[in-house]
Formats: sequence, structure tokens, C-alpha cells
Amino acid sequence: MRHGPADRLIVALDVDTLAEAERLLDILSPDVEIFKIGSRLFTASGPAAAEAVKARGKRLFLDLKFHDIPNTVAGGVAASVELGVDMLTLHTTGGEAMLRSAQIAVEERARQLGRQPPLLLGVTVLTSLDGPALERVWGLKGRSLEEEVISLALMAKKAGVDGVVASPREIRSVKDHCGDGFAVVTPGIRPTGGGSDDQVRTMTPGEAVAEGADFIVVGRPIVRASDPLEAARAILGEMGEAIGG
Ligand code: C5P
Repeated sequence: MRHGPADRLIVALDVDTLAEAERLLDILSPDVEIFKIGSRLFTASGPAAAEAVKARGKRLFLDLKFHDIPNTVAGGVAASVELGVDMLTLHTTGGEAMLRSAQIAVEERARQLGRQPPLLLGVTVLTSLDGPALERVWGLKGRSLEEEVISLALMAKKAGVDGVVASPREIRSVKDHCGDGFAVVTPGIRPTGGGSDDQVRTMTPGEAVAEGADFIVVGRPIVRASDPLEAARAILGEMGEAIGG
């Protein structure tokens, strides 16, 4: 799964319009291979945003965090395969049956289309929820936040999910419990010397890959930089130094 830095850096296209996304795609395409589209751009631009990524020969991470009854999620992930997505997210808290039917749906649709199935990535506990917020939402039943994350990751793995989105501080424990082959995608990355925006616990690109992240997601430090390509190159360089690639 792991290759060079460009196979492991995901740039989040967190912008409002297709035109802005296309501008960034054109600027970054020389060096960046994987782009993430989330609910903001997808709601504004729909499948055209996904097509803009694929038309440039790039890999697409569709981050819509599906969470619904199994039949509905199966339909959503199958439609994502039609769009040509390479990675997609769904909430592990949708339950084991939902995760399993998503896994079956992507396999089936990918087989029908003669494509590789996308990587299915589970969201465990949103990093915006702290312990007290989580207690109010779910009730932790005496478990720590970290135990909850691991328990959800293990359930996702059992249901056939390929990996999870995890904050920098969770990378190592997810790998320890779920095995090295279980993918970890890590946001909350801030380049050395940069500000943190609203991210609370951050790591540098080098630290995150050294910690074991298979992929890192970077948004604002690249898309809001005065020179986005230069910012991406600096991050790729730092990743390369950390992994020797
Ligand atoms: O701009 P920034 O680098 O903080 O963007 C990080 C990206 O990762 C955003 O698209 C954000 O939605 C996503 N993300 C996150 N924290 C999570 C899950 C996803 O920052 N726990």
C-alpha cells in the first residue's frame, strides 16, 4: 500500500466552487496525485468536481462520511464506485451491518465495472468531540476515548473495512491493535513552522508518516498558501526525508 510521498499525500479541495477546485487541480497536478472532495465542494458542484479530478488522471478520495441504514449506504457507495473514487469514508458508528453491506456493495459494483474496489475508510470518533461531548452523545460506559476509537476500528476491520481516518495521536494505537495492513489516514497535519488553524493536536508531515500513517490529509496549509505548489513540494520533501523516499 505504501509507496513514495506522492502516493501518501492527499490534498483536501476544501473550496466552494468548481472553478476554484479546477484552478487548484491545475496548479498542483505536477506533483500531487491524490485529492479529497468533501461535502462542501460536492454539495456545491456535485459529480462534476469528481470528474475534474479523474479527468486529470488523479486519484480521488470522496469524503462524504456516509451514515444511514445499510441499504441506503450500499447504494451511496456503489454510486461512488461509478464516479471512479479510489477512497471513500463512512461512519463506523453506522454499525457492523452497515459497514458490511457497504463493503459488499463496493466489491460488487467494482467487479461489474471491471475496476479495483475503492479503499473503504471508517470514521471512528470525530476529533471535534472531546470526552464530555462524547459521553453526552453516546455514553462511554466507563471506556476512555481511545478505547472507544480502538473498539470501533476493530469492528470496522471485522466488517471488511480497509482502514480508518485517525488523528495523529491515534495512529500508533490503531496500528498496534488492528495490524499494519489496516490503513490509517491522518488529518490534522501542520508543516513545521506553520500555524495550526482550528486543529488542536497536530503533527508535522514527517512526524505523522514516521508514526505510521499510510496517508496524510492536508488542506489549508496547501490550498490557502500563496504558492500552493511550493507548499505541497515542501510537504512532499519532508515526507520523503521521514520515509527515505
Ligand atoms: O485544512 P486542514 O488541513 O485542517 O484540513 C483537514 C481536512 O481533513 C479537512 O477536509 C477536514 O474536514 C478533514 N478532517 C479533519 N479532522 C478529522 C476528519 C477529517 O480535519 N477528524
